[in-house]
Amino acid sequence: MEAEPTGAETGRLLEKLDLRQKVRLLTGASTWRTHAEPAVGLRALTFSDGPAGVRGTAWDERDTALVLPCPTALAAAWDEELVSEAGGLLAAEARRKGVDVLLAPTLNLHRSPLGGRHFECFSEDPLLTGRTGAALIRGIQAGGVAATAKHFVANDAETDRLTVDVRVDERTLREVYLAPFEAAVEAGVRVVMSAYNRVNGVTMSAGPLLERPLKDEWGFEGPVVSDWGAVRSLLDTARSAQDLAMPGPAGPWAEGLYAAVESGAVPVELIDEKVRRLLRLAAWAGARPEPSDLVREGVIPPSPDAMSPMPGSSVVGVLPSTAQRLQRERPLLRRAVAAGAVLLRNEGSLLPLDPARPRSVAVIGPHATAVRIQGGGSAEVFPADLVTPLEGITAALAGTARVVHAPGLPPSARPRPLDRANTRDPRGGRPGVLVRLLDAAGAELHAEHRLSGRIVEPAEVAGAHTVEIRALFRPDRDGLWTLAVGGWGALSLTVAGRTVLAGTFPVDSDDPTRVHVAPPYRRVRTPLTGGREVELVVRRGLDGGTGVATVLAAAPPPGDAAAARERAVAAAREAEVAVVVVGTTQESESEGSDRRTLALPGGQDALVRAVAGANPRTVVVLNTGGPVTLPWRDEVRAILLAWFPGQEAGAGLADVLFGRVEPGGRLPTTWAATEADAPVLRTRPEGGVLPYTEGPFIGYRAWLRSGAVPAYWFGHGLGYTTWAYESMEAPAEVGAGEPFDVRVVLRNTGVRRGREVVQLYLAGPEPDGGPQVPRLVGHAAVVADPGERAVAAVRVDGRAAARWSTRERRWVAEPGEVTLLCGRSAGELPLRAVTSLSRSVPEAPPESALP
Ligand code: BGC
Repeated sequence: MEAEPTGAETGRLLEKLDLRQKVRLLTGASTWRTHAEPAVGLRALTFSDGPAGVRGTAWDERDTALVLPCPTALAAAWDEELVSEAGGLLAAEARRKGVDVLLAPTLNLHRSPLGGRHFECFSEDPLLTGRTGAALIRGIQAGGVAATAKHFVANDAETDRLTVDVRVDERTLREVYLAPFEAAVEAGVRVVMSAYNRVNGVTMSAGPLLERPLKDEWGFEGPVVSDWGAVRSLLDTARSAQDLAMPGPAGPWAEGLYAAVESGAVPVELIDEKVRRLLRLAAWAGARPEPSDLVREGVIPPSPDAMSPMPGSSVVGVLPSTAQRLQRERPLLRRAVAAGAVLLRNEGSLLPLDPARPRSVAVIGPHATAVRIQGGGSAEVFPADLVTPLEGITAALAGTARVVHAPGLPPSARPRPLDRANTRDPRGGRPGVLVRLLDAAGAELHAEHRLSGRIVEPAEVAGAHTVEIRALFRPDRDGLWTLAVGGWGALSLTVAGRTVLAGTFPVDSDDPTRVHVAPPYRRVRTPLTGGREVELVVRRGLDGGTGVATVLAAAPPPGDAAAARERAVAAAREAEVAVVVVGTTQESESEGSDRRTLALPGGQDALVRAVAGANPRTVVVLNTGGPVTLPWRDEVRAILLAWFPGQEAGAGLADVLFGRVEPGGRLPTTWAATEADAPVLRTRPEGGVLPYTEGPFIGYRAWLRSGAVPAYWFGHGLGYTTWAYESMEAPAEVGAGEPFDVRVVLRNTGVRRGREVVQLYLAGPEPDGGPQVPRLVGHAAVVADPGERAVAAVRVDGRAAARWSTRERRWVAEPGEVTLLCGRSAGELPLRAVTSLSRSVPEAPPESALP
């Protein structure tokens, strides 16, 4: 499928373009598209966010997407094949929506558990991150869609993300934060996205790291696209190895780059190089088969209801609907839930539950029905359908047990956008809302039916002055409701014709997420009567900005926490088993801000304790993207970490709870028992600076170095069988810098067939002479029946024992002894061997670095 354009071909195309045409290509034509250039037969390239699904070019709840488990959950599977399959699913989704470039994977690291986009990153470990990322990239690109390694680099937290200056030493950068990007380039990633933040004083969209190591040392040949809006200045970014400024059509390059080249301030050769990279990507993307070819090849199913191509999209032909796609992909989406689910604790083998045994199960907790299938921010997509934990459990027990649900209280008092469950369109009465565009005199220019109280204005209509959401809202109870309006500019809200909120709110941020996706709420409280419909109307003046979300949201009067807990306790007491589903909220895990605490919000710790006190057979299911503290973890029998599991959440969870499938996950990140224990916590810069003072020691490396013990180690996760690690065979001597193989023999000592993730760590002399700290250098999974032996063959990369020498500016593997440790988590490494590295084989320095 890959047809690489030759240098001569791109050179010929380049010659046909004049400077104005070239410069025009380097800024987006719109939010998601590049410019087309008919002079050289170049069509526009379309970008879209991932990484757990493909949103497409519209922020529109009717444009649905399949939703995979969040990236952390995918990494937790430690299964590159599965991850590649997930990449294939994303590619097919991208093709269905006319997308050429998917803005995934996110390769930043879990440095602090408070990171707001933790759920979107894979792991705290660079090797696991790099391998998972590479597998996803291979899967996406095999489907003819370009992947994007983002955000290059050190964008590991969200606070002040546009300006924060991350101070990090060269060795740490190379060994930890750059390593996953290097793996992505090795896997052939087509696009790299530069981050918003600064590294060591220089903003990444003008940073020297784009040149070296990314391009001249690793040989990356594609374009570097900016994070959205990250090119904020002209000369420094244009002179750097930044290639494409997104979005457009406005921006410093669109406005000033032509003149800057004309005046000689930016050499034309630099412009040519940027365009050449873009042409190379376009040629590759253009070389992919059209959807009709994919239908013929059986990659995507044919569709009787051909979807019309999106305006401006290059994709034509027959495209499958989401329903058809879902039918085809449901097994993978479901399998992925179980594959990534981590069984943290299982006292007395409470799990799996025998589906034929319990006569009653109490399913407790707000997330049992309001499950969070994905994290918030630009990664968000709209599922057509989802299976809640309550639905999954109920289906698994159909005809055998009684299932009772007690929700407890919602963990957040934040108003939620109106939806089809509580709102009707006043025009026609269908569930949903009416969205209109009005002219300056208030006359209707455009109207459409929508499904959510959160919309981005529907269409570009000449003369549009105001966007309006109109809804018949039916409160489900009496009392003082909180109504909220989100957006910027002139905003008003009327309740039954009475204005309850009006004001002008100027945009207060440059952050695209805050401006376009999640504008702040302005709230009012108003008494409403349960069951009685009331008309709500929000209006927003479009001079406050276009492409901006307008939100109409509502929250019920606060409930009685003690009474809700009592109902949950009563349900738990009467049932044979209690399953409590708890988790984080949209506010606490979303792009654009970091978390303030690791504690579960809204009294959920108290809920778990109360339920566990009432029923000794309590299973806690965690619905979170990042770590949370579990102060009750020794008081419950089982804890199953489901992450943000994607749309098949409940089905995949039920598979694990009732033993249809083993929980496949192993933690890709260490979980601390308390916030105070976390070795790296701070994400808030001081004076604009966030120093990575811990150097390479994040995650398990920090814990192993200090000797402290976390709640759950990196790599930890129980299956439904047990294993004995019997022996390890490693070469007594290897050439330093050369790859080698280690064989590990283990035995399934339990009663059921299982899969085990064998992890290999290496400890060698630290450059500062400090204690030797093991780091993951390889892993392999084995499957065996009860009593059976299995051999895991773990390949260790030649780079594994090397260190980045800042003095020599290259990887150096010192001769001497290293220790290999093998086991099932960073905290449980029963096998040990010593290997001696015989001599140093230096990696050749890159040619461009030679004198
Ligand atoms: C995010 C990127 C995303 C882009 C486009 C940015 O705010 O940081 O990850 O791809 O927006 O939505």
